[in-house]
Amino acid sequence: MSSPIIAPSILSADFANLQRDVEMINRSEADWFHVDIMDGVFVPNISFGFPVQKAVQKHATKPLDVHLMIVQPERYIKDFKDAGAAVLSVHIEASTHLHRTLQAIKAEGMKAGVAINPHTPVSALEDIIADADLVCMMSVNPGFGGQKFIERTYAKCAALKEMILKQNSNCLIEIDGGVNEITAPKLLAAGADVLVAGNYVFSSSDPLATISSLKKLTGYTHQA
Ligand code: DX5
Ligand code: ZN
Repeated sequence: MSSPIIAPSILSADFANLQRDVEMINRSEADWFHVDIMDGVFVPNISFGFPVQKAVQKHATKPLDVHLMIVQPERYIKDFKDAGAAVLSVHIEASTHLHRTLQAIKAEGMKAGVAINPHTPVSALEDIIADADLVCMMSVNPGFGGQKFIERTYAKCAALKEMILKQNSNCLIEIDGGVNEITAPKLLAAGADVLVAGNYVFSSSDPLATISSLKKLTGYTHQA
């Protein structure tokens, strides 16, 4: 039994007190910083770009897990590396030559992730899963924090886990959107490895305790 990787999303942080919030995550039991980049084209919102990511990187003592919600993500791979990304995920719906993009991310020394929207079937990953280090499965429509979890995600997560095991891959399953004390245990039972949590952590009266409670949940154990 393993504990999940917890990745608080700084989209829900207080940007006027970013250093304070980054240092809170440093002190917490969280493993990664989830960094959401939105371009106002791929998703109907604009979050922030390189200067803010660099500011997070300056104070962060844990890896940055960067989720690109942008069109033509292949144009900016090196820039995100230079801004401190350790894991870089691009959307399958935004990358025409996804295989090439993943190789380019790895060539820069980062872990390569594929993000999928709620409408994209798990089967679309069949021929790319062996090349991915992580799948960022959206459990809300990307663009905003604090949205309602889409229940269909449990079945998709279980199907993806099955595909990963079948292909003998080490790919991690990350769930992004609407993670809380109700959804997290069911996601872990369905095979999730990484839990992103924005609103649940940052709107909590005790974010450190909230992160700790997620970290204490038990991960999936494969029954051979
Ligand atoms: C949504 C982002 C998420 C978001 C999750 O487009 O990709 O990472 O911050 O937020 P919560 O946990 O508030 O649903
Ligand atoms: Zn995200």
